[in-house]
Amino acid sequence: MRLLIAGGAGFIGSAFVRFALRRWPECEVIVLDKLTYAGNPRNLDSVEGERRFHFVQGDIADDAQARSAMSGCSHVVNFAAETHVDRSILHPEVVVRTNVEGARVLLHAAVDLDVERYLQVSTDEVYGPIDAPRRAREEDALRPRSPYAASKAAADLMVGAYHATYGLPALITRGANTYGPFQYPEKMIPLFVTNALDGLPLPVYTDGLQVRDWLAVDDHCSGIAAILEHGTPGEIYNVEAGNERANMDVVEAIVELAGCDRGLVRHVPDRPGHDRRYALNTEKLRALGWRPRVPFDTGLRDTVEWYREHRAWWEPIKSGSFRDYYRHQYEQRLAESVP
Ligand code: NAD
Ligand code: DAU
Repeated sequence: MRLLIAGGAGFIGSAFVRFALRRWPECEVIVLDKLTYAGNPRNLDSVEGERRFHFVQGDIADDAQARSAMSGCSHVVNFAAETHVDRSILHPEVVVRTNVEGARVLLHAAVDLDVERYLQVSTDEVYGPIDAPRRAREEDALRPRSPYAASKAAADLMVGAYHATYGLPALITRGANTYGPFQYPEKMIPLFVTNALDGLPLPVYTDGLQVRDWLAVDDHCSGIAAILEHGTPGEIYNVEAGNERANMDVVEAIVELAGCDRGLVRHVPDRPGHDRRYALNTEKLRALGWRPRVPFDTGLRDTVEWYREHRAWWEPIKSGSFRDYYRHQYEQRLAESVP
């Protein structure tokens, strides 16, 4: 297998690089990554020097760069995306270029280069909010509500079109909220953990009763691998572990694990269009034999410990250009916050 991992310097992509090199001893891995603010070569330090690993800096929306990186590849997994909902509200144009046009460029190159399997990494957000106790199934209508979710839904439709029109053996995975080491500290868990460790406020949007189902990054990777190996081209597979939690429950657990002052928790004005609940039905993936392995309590504890022990990874991020984003996103909100 010669595997192109687009977006392999990001959070889940870099975990999948490590996973793929372990799981498939004959596999050669090529990472194509633009190294945006979210991409970090340090995420790949542990595989640097491995002869089956190659890194190419490039843009998935650039046809020549995408084709050159994909040349000779039998398999493609596309993680590359603008992934933060709050930023997608600030800059939808960047999101559409990478998440929609970038995916189309990769798909077309995959057709021309006769790739054996193309897997698009998508998200539960494409279904929009799901009322309890229902869980979204793969055939459900797409009702995305943020620019990020709409762009991912558009890419999913494009994947379906490339399968139907050009016969590309393409699959889609729709994963739940993922957490673990090396996650850029703009997302709730790493932001709140690093803020807690620094004695800074934890800015909870409104009542914090929104519900997400948390998936450990290693479980997300093993789900994607199972689908790449055993999934049926043209099909969509939900990936979720059954760890449904209200945000406030996660926040209370972080306060306890980080050992910070409960008074740091602040309720701030909401994210526009904030989806109340995501939940997935995963019967289809489980029929392939996949099971999650990481209980949420253990996974969250290990994640907090990882951030405690890896300040050298996140401190340079939080003291760099991230500061401008943080100020823009939270300064006014925190000024209006309540305990
Ligand atoms: P991330 O933001 O940590 O990493 C994204 C990576 O893509 C970065 O390395 C970035 O440099 C790269 N990238 C961005 N634009 C690019 C471009 N034009 N060309 C090449 N590379 C580019 O993201 P993540 O959280 O690891 O998410 C990976 C994928 O999984 C995304 O497609 C996301 O939609 C999906 N997903 C994420 C979650 C989650 O909770 N994090 C859940 C479900 C699905
Ligand atoms: O559901 C899968 C999706 O999960 C992925 O497709 C996205 O790439 C990923 O970013 C994530 O999206 P969310 O918007 O759910 O994740 P985030 O960590 O930004 O927010 C999780 C919850 O926490 C959500 O209800 C919003 C809330 N939140 C988030 C931030 C950043 C807060 O209350 N305060 C915050 O400061």
